Formats: sequence, C-alpha cells, structure tokens
Amino acid sequence: MKSEHDLPFTDEQRRAIHHDGSSLRIIAGAGTGKTATLTARFAHLVERDDLQIGDVLALTFTNKAASEMKSRIIDQLDRSYSEFWVNTFHAFCQRILRTERGRQGLPAPRILEGQARRNLLKRTIEHQQFPAYGTRRTELVRQALVLVDRAKDELLTPAALLDNANAQNDPQLQDLAVAYTLYQEALVFGDRDFDWGELQTRVIDTLENDPATLQRWRGRFKHILVDEYQDINRAQFRLIELLAGNGRNLTVVGDVDQSVYAFRGASHTFLSEMSRSYPDVETVHLTRNFRSHQKILDVANALIDVNPHDRQQLVAHDGRTGNPPTVTQASDEHREAESIARQIARLHWIDDVPLDRIAVLLRSVQMGAGPIEGALEAVGLRSSSASGADSTDEASRDVLAVFRLIDEIKPGDLIRILISQGADPVEIAAAQVRATREEQSLVDVLTALDPLLAPAARAALDEVAALKDRPLPEQTYEATVLCGRLPLGETVTRDDYRYMRSLRRIIERAQDVAERGGTRAAFIQALESANSPLPEAGDTTSVVQIMTV
Ligand SMILES: Nc1ncnc2c1ncn2[C@@H]1O[C@H](COP(=O)(O)OP(=O)(O)OP(=O)(O)O)[C@@H](O)[C@H]1O
Ligand SMILES: [Mg+2]
Repeated sequence: MKSEHDLPFTDEQRRAIHHDGSSLRIIAGAGTGKTATLTARFAHLVERDDLQIGDVLALTFTNKAASEMKSRIIDQLDRSYSEFWVNTFHAFCQRILRTERGRQGLPAPRILEGQARRNLLKRTIEHQQFPAYGTRRTELVRQALVLVDRAKDELLTPAALLDNANAQNDPQLQDLAVAYTLYQEALVFGDRDFDWGELQTRVIDTLENDPATLQRWRGRFKHILVDEYQDINRAQFRLIELLAGNGRNLTVVGDVDQSVYAFRGASHTFLSEMSRSYPDVETVHLTRNFRSHQKILDVANALIDVNPHDRQQLVAHDGRTGNPPTVTQASDEHREAESIARQIARLHWIDDVPLDRIAVLLRSVQMGAGPIEGALEAVGLRSSSASGADSTDEASRDVLAVFRLIDEIKPGDLIRILISQGADPVEIAAAQVRATREEQSLVDVLTALDPLLAPAARAALDEVAALKDRPLPEQTYEATVLCGRLPLGETVTRDDYRYMRSLRRIIERAQDVAERGGTRAAFIQALESANSPLPEAGDTTSVVQIMTV
C-alpha cells in the first residue's frame, strides 16, 4: 500500500488530521479514507514537539485491524519507536491490568477461552438444577456463555441480570443468570483467570473505584483515537469515558452503515449521539470514496439506503465511473465456478484483460476455491489463492508441510496438518491469539492446550518424526495419508481427482530425486520452487488471484 505520507489528502481530510482543541468525530462512508486519516493524524501528533509516541493511544476492534493500523502508522514515521499504543480494546485492557497487577505483585492475567472456559462453566453448574433447561445442559452452557459475553459488554453484573430476569419473570433467563453467577464466582476465585469480557469490566471497575489508578491512567494519553467507533459497546464506551475525561483529546472515526457488532451489544448510537457525552465535539464528514468507481458505489448506495438513519451517498473521488456490476445466479457451486471461468476466459482471451487485473473474491478460500480452481484449469487458466502458494497443488503443499516439520517445527506447517486432519480452525485461531497475547510460541500453546488440540498436535508431531528414515517416495505418500486427504470414500470429487493427479506427479519427482541420490532437503527445495507463491519473472499476467473478501 502507498504510504499515507504520500496521499494527496483532501481539504476535509486535512482538517481532521490537524484538528486541535476539542473532541473530533469523523463520520464517513466505506472507503473514504477514514483509517488513512486517522493514521495520518496519529503520525502528525507524535511528530509534534510537545508529544511523545507513548502519549497517543489508538484503539480498534480486531487484531487484524490493529496490526494494519500499526503498520500504516509505522510507514509514516521518520524514525523507529519502541513504545506503541496501538491496540485492540481487549489487548489494551490486558496491558493495563498487567501493569496494575504488576504494581501489586500479582501475576499477569491469564486468558480463559474455548474449551477451558466451557469446562469451567460445566464444572461449576454440575450440581445445580435448572428448571427451564432440565437435561438440556449443552444448550444451557452454549447460551450461558453467549449471555455472559453480552452481559459483560453491557456492564451487567450477575446480580443485575438476575434482578432483570426476576422482574421479567422469565424462567429461561433466570436459569442463565444463575449460571452466570456461578461461572463468575468460579472465574474470579483464584484471581488469575479472565475471560475476554472480564478484562474490560475489571479495568473499568478499577478505574471507577480506585481514584489513584484513575488518576494514573486518565491524562496518561494526551490523545485517544478510535477507529470503527460505530462498533463500540457500552463497556468500551465507559472505558473511553473514564480515560478521556472531558474528551477534548478524543478522536473517533466511524460509519453507521458499517456497524457489524450489533449482535454483540455494539450500538452505533454512541457515534450518532456523541454530542450528548461530549458537547463540544466537532464533526468532519469525508465525502469522497477512493476505493471504487461510481457504478459500484451506486449498488452500495442502493443497499444501505434501506438503513433507517440519515446517511450521505457514497460518491467516487474524481467522478470515476466504469461498468455496472452484474448478478448471475447459478444452481450449484460447480455451475457457478464454470460461469466464472467462462467469463474470465472471455475477458482474458477476447478483451485482452491481463489475468493479474482479474480477481475472484470468496467468503473463505477453504470453503470455495476448489471448484473455481478446477473450472479455471479446465479452460487453461492458472489460479493462485490468497494463501500465496499455488492452490492448484494442494498435495505438494501438504507434503511440504510434513517434510518441513520433520526437520524443524514451525507453527504454520503444524496448523496445516491439524486442520487437514479435521481440527477446528476456530480453536486454532484462538490458540494463535493466545500465543501472541502471552508472547509464547504457537507450538508451545498448541501442545499445551487442553483437551482437544494437545493430543492431536503431539500425535501429529510423533507421526511426522516416525517418517524420518523412510525412503523419499514412501515418505511422500505417507505425508498425504497423515494429512488425511487421500480420498478413501466411495465418491471421488473433482478436487479429489486433482489431488491424486498432483500426488502422482510429486511421487514421480520424489523417485527421480531418490534415484539420483538427492536428499530430502533438495526435494523440499524443488517442491518449494515449483510451488512458489510468485509467478515466474516476466510472467506476472498468468495467474488469476482467488482471495477472500
Ligand atoms: N486523499 C486520498 N487520495 C487518494 N487515495 C486515498 C486518499 N485517502 C485515502 N485513500 C486511499 O483510499 C483507500 C481507502 O482508505 P481507508 O482504508 O483509509 O478507508 P476507510 O474509510 O477507512 O475504509 P473502511 O470503511 O473500509 O474502513 C486506501 O487505499 C487509501 O490509501
Ligand atoms: Mg477503515
């Protein structure tokens, strides 16, 4: 991405970047440069003589957004800094708690999530009767955990929730409130474990009840910038209120039409009614969209027109226009893939559009790339999925993952094997988050995780180690068995067929290398270069990109 330094900012963006003296709200539609403006403001502030980098805090919601924001900021700074406060709300609260607990000689908070969290709840409610749920314990556990998260986002204590349930005379809610009460008692019992919601509520609680701590953190940040403010929930709103005081140094950016966390208690009214809490707030609207041409924006406008609140139309910067989007319906994923491949072939062969100017966007590469890759291959076009490696060759990626693990344990390779063996990607993603947060290696976290992944991770590593001294072609075949991908069922899909075909090619290559006395390392190298994520030099137009939205 072009560094934000070099962007020809519009007057309205510049006004937001240099704003001073009161709280600021930037309201604008998708792709209007909101994040660009916010990161430029961050860079502008820290380069002011009266501010240090540690004086500016930027908050957002997901790890992905936080790391993107960080790299967009770093890109604009003239020198390197070590102390960055660009975090998700949760990571930020974890940081505060770590510091505050450290002052009191307490250990850092430990995050309880996934199965461990379910187990805690199951254990604590074991001997309790739940009249409305009866024997439907699994359902109770599932709903109670969702409710616990929602309640914490809304700053509702178990007692408040129970009162609520009693007042409404709602037996189901009463059961859930009891489960929340027991869970919460167990969670805080050892003063070590936190769920994600608890990180926020505990920080808020401390700031509200301990004036010395409040004084330490309020005023600690001379500027607080929040991206995607439409997704804020009550707890996060309160946290900012506590930290920002009168809000003079608060800058928030948001788009009511993009509110995605309503199911989690987020309320965009915090954005639209901001002047209630911060009466002197100034508002800047960004009116130009830099991402798309007008015909695409017309479709987006039609979609968000049904939203109930006032909104501005998305307008393309410079009035750019192009072909209108079209909608094609297909009866199943294979027909859909064929229709996409046909259109791409027409664009490429007849209209001379280079393939690297064409992308296929999917909700998830794992879910939908296979048929599209197959259909493209059938019309003689190669594709590359967003993971980088050539996705027409799943088999060599499996073999590579196993082979690399034989010599060196790398998280990415282990994850690939675990997922292909059927591990839940969500559990793995959670482990990944935990590894980053706890600054541990993912392999350590995966092998220490209980109870689901640890045995699978260890078993996979043992199986991989057992391959070490087998002949190369046999290792190759066994690697794909280990990944659990060889089609053993009665029906063989087109994907299976492609997998087998490329496996045969790889085994032939392994035989070749073995006959010439080549090592596994040499074979890995050959596979890696054949599987290279970059097309060969001078051949950048030969690959259609398949990527997730
Ligand atoms: N003044 C500008 N001139 C040219 N390009 C710009 C300008 N401002 C922003 N952009 C570009 O527009 C694109 C969208 O910017 P950005 O991601 O900041 O938008 P956003 O409003 O935060 O989008 P979203 O609603 O998806 O969060 C980026 O590629 C950015 O570099
Ligand atoms: Mg943005």
